Amino acid sequence: MLSLPMTRGIRGAITVDENTEAAITSAAWRLTQAMMDANQVEVEEIACIIFSVTADLDAAFPAAGARIAGLTTTPLFSTREIPVPGSLPRCIRALMLVNSSLGQGEIQHVYLEEAVKLRPDLACGQAEPEEGQGAGVPDYRKAILDIAPYQPGKPISELRREKGLTDIIKLASNENPLGPSPKAAAALQCLLPSLHIYPDGSCFDLRKALAKKLDIDPMELIFGNGSDEVIKMLGLTFLEPGDEVLVCEPTFSEYAYAANLMGAKLRSLPLADYAFDLEGMLAAINPKTKMVFICNPNNPTGAYVNEKAVDSFLAKVPEQVLIVFDEAYYEYVTADDYPETMKYIREGRNVVVLRTFSKIYGLAGLRIGYGAAPGHIAQLIHRVREPFNVNAAAQAAALAALEDDEHVMRSRELNEAGKSWLYRELAKLGLDYVPSQTNFIFIDLQQDSQMIYERLLNQGVIARGGGAFGCPTWLRVTIGTEEENQRFIEALATALGR
Ligand SMILES: Cc1ncc(COP(=O)(O)O)c(C=O)c1O
Repeated sequence: MLSLPMTRGIRGAITVDENTEAAITSAAWRLTQAMMDANQVEVEEIACIIFSVTADLDAAFPAAGARIAGLTTTPLFSTREIPVPGSLPRCIRALMLVNSSLGQGEIQHVYLEEAVKLRPDLACGQAEPEEGQGAGVPDYRKAILDIAPYQPGKPISELRREKGLTDIIKLASNENPLGPSPKAAAALQCLLPSLHIYPDGSCFDLRKALAKKLDIDPMELIFGNGSDEVIKMLGLTFLEPGDEVLVCEPTFSEYAYAANLMGAKLRSLPLADYAFDLEGMLAAINPKTKMVFICNPNNPTGAYVNEKAVDSFLAKVPEQVLIVFDEAYYEYVTADDYPETMKYIREGRNVVVLRTFSKIYGLAGLRIGYGAAPGHIAQLIHRVREPFNVNAAAQAAALAALEDDEHVMRSRELNEAGKSWLYRELAKLGLDYVPSQTNFIFIDLQQDSQMIYERLLNQGVIARGGGAFGCPTWLRVTIGTEEENQRFIEALATALGR
């Protein structure tokens, strides 16, 4: 390990979806920030950055993105690459020269989005092994190169570390601002003396109580370590390489994960009116279509498809295609014409309905969600489930939360009041948004949201930039407590200079 700073080169690359100023600037900003973060480099330690772009990106200089990352005086240079047959399209590369005490082998090179394919061995910022030091990567499944590591909302602790802020609010992951049900917290307390015992692998008590509430058979439930795990189990159960999975985008990224994990092909259509385009999906189904995900209401837009549209879709969809309704925000929905999907389970349709205890029940930290499906489907999924996939604490808390109607009601009321207030305040700021059936709002900033996101962070407010969803001019914000909503609006007004 060298103690004297030496000049080191950090390599990085990222791809963008479109040749627009917003996309290029935002990607270059992200890449620069990720290269700095991965190597814990401060602005003053950067000697210069050389950017190069593929010839199909001419809408902006990436250097502008690095300026947003705070490199106001660092020498930056942008150049265009010679077209090379077979090169990755719409790619920005960077060489950052830094004065660092890190050894050459400790440098973390950063490859993001499709650019991971350029250096799969360095994906996620892994250090490049020095020559002769265990270079060479064990052979891996090529299908995983299509998986972009999940980007969660920034944790409060991370922002505290990064910016030294103490007063931080997180409105980035659609958690319940009221916290967990007090009954769930009490149930957890009771569980503590028996933590040495394995959980009930069948989730017997919870299964019984939930089946009664949903009016389905207990055997029609599959519990998971979050509904995320149920989505993965759906992939493991049903998808083979070459199968097609149909979604609309932007949407929740775990559907793509499940498809890519199994080597299936993800086909995506645009949303219609910010919700899933059921007519478009019907037309797009072909003999290879194995599974269709319908995120309803959709994350990140908050829009929904109604019962009539879903009934009509299910009347026409080929029977062998598995239709998965993701209803993570079900308990927040107030629309009268929202579909009652449990009836399809009772009818024995090839349908799975996903719900979670992470949102209105306030148990995101414990990880528990579930799928409801007719017995013939549930039995298949149970084959891939790990023995004790849902921990004892999650089961106990979920059972108590399920019975705490008062907490659910209070959470819903707080959400509705906060939503109306935010709508009014956003309108006062001259901002459009998508009317939401969830506990978040998707806001049209009509400018690079990454920059606004960063300005919000500087004020201790964590929201979610739309870039992660391929919508670089949108921002998603979770509806918080009255105080949190006020603080968000004040911070947003400051960030926008209004
Ligand atoms: C649409 C959607 N589905 C599923 C999930 C995952 O929920 P869980 O915490 O149960 O894994 C989320 C979480 O944000 C979501 O937005």
